[in-house]
Amino acid sequence: MKITIIGAGNVGATTAQILSAKELGDIVLLDVIEGMPQGKALDLQEAGPMYHHYCNISGTNSYDDTAKSDIVVVTSGLPRKPGMTREDLVKVNAEIVKSVVEQVVQKSPDAIIVMVSNPLDAMTYVAHKVSGFPKERIIGMAGVLDSSRLKTFIAMELNVSIENVEAFVLGGHGDTMVSMIRYTTVAGIPVSELISKERLDAIIQRTRDGGVEIVNLLKKGSAFYAPASSVVEMVDAILRDKKKILPCTVLCKGEYGLDDVFLGLPVKLGRKGAEQILEIKLTKEEADSLNNSANEVRELCKTVSL
Ligand code: NAI
Ligand code: 2OP
Repeated sequence: MKITIIGAGNVGATTAQILSAKELGDIVLLDVIEGMPQGKALDLQEAGPMYHHYCNISGTNSYDDTAKSDIVVVTSGLPRKPGMTREDLVKVNAEIVKSVVEQVVQKSPDAIIVMVSNPLDAMTYVAHKVSGFPKERIIGMAGVLDSSRLKTFIAMELNVSIENVEAFVLGGHGDTMVSMIRYTTVAGIPVSELISKERLDAIIQRTRDGGVEIVNLLKKGSAFYAPASSVVEMVDAILRDKKKILPCTVLCKGEYGLDDVFLGLPVKLGRKGAEQILEIKLTKEEADSLNNSANEVRELCKTVSL
């Protein structure tokens, strides 16, 4: 397998590091900065004797080296700075994503693209429009990260193993994301039986603000360990054809009554990409929240000029 990662910054390089330990395939790191992806790739390759990984990791500034990739992870773009919303990023990152995806597609017409650049839902839409790829092969990473944050905060609240917590977050990767509390369990027990509504509301809000919380602490840049781990979860499910259900950002074509909008939904990931969108029953309140999120994404996408 050949895995290309565009953008060798915090998320890109950390993704390469975690992926290399899994030996899923050879890894190409591409960035516009000369020398930087080559240096990081060599450094990672030199970690091989300790990690005992046997994949090739190379760095490049040329798309020629990305040719015939099976999967391409796009992390190129600016991260948020303190005080900046995901929406502030849209204009600058849309230009970057457009130029990147055009070049990716020329060299790897059969690849699956996993989008990471923010604002995630809008950038996944840009990648879809620019690539012309079928919807199964354009997938955004956000729900795995947001769900991971929700799970973490629940485990912290109850002081239980994270392994006991099942939870998922749907909708856009922004303030309108929808934490699916009704489907959240701890060792199979509905979370609402273990945590008060007041505390659950605070956890839902912290999940919504999860990205900002890290940005404010770091001062420079945004989260990357959990985001990179989330990307690897998806790449692993795809390349190993796991048929694993994960919340991913995909193009709706009538599912949940939504059309032509990229939104986080439960998706079965396998070797063909987003192989199926699972439709679960929603209460009126949950459906309204998902609709609200879809409207927010639509409004944001309107600001993108292609
Ligand atoms: P970073 O600044 O550390 O890395 C970005 C890299 O992209 C830089 O090395 C930069 O040189 C490179 N780059 C810029 N323009 C490029 C181009 N045209 N071609 C190739 N490379 C280019 O940022 P970080 O922390 O890695 O974040 C990357 C992106 O991912 C940001 O937009 C961030 O907001 C987003 N993100 C999204 C998450 C999600 O849940 N979807 C989670 C975390 C980050
Ligand atoms: C996050 O949620 C920055 O979107 C990124 O951490």
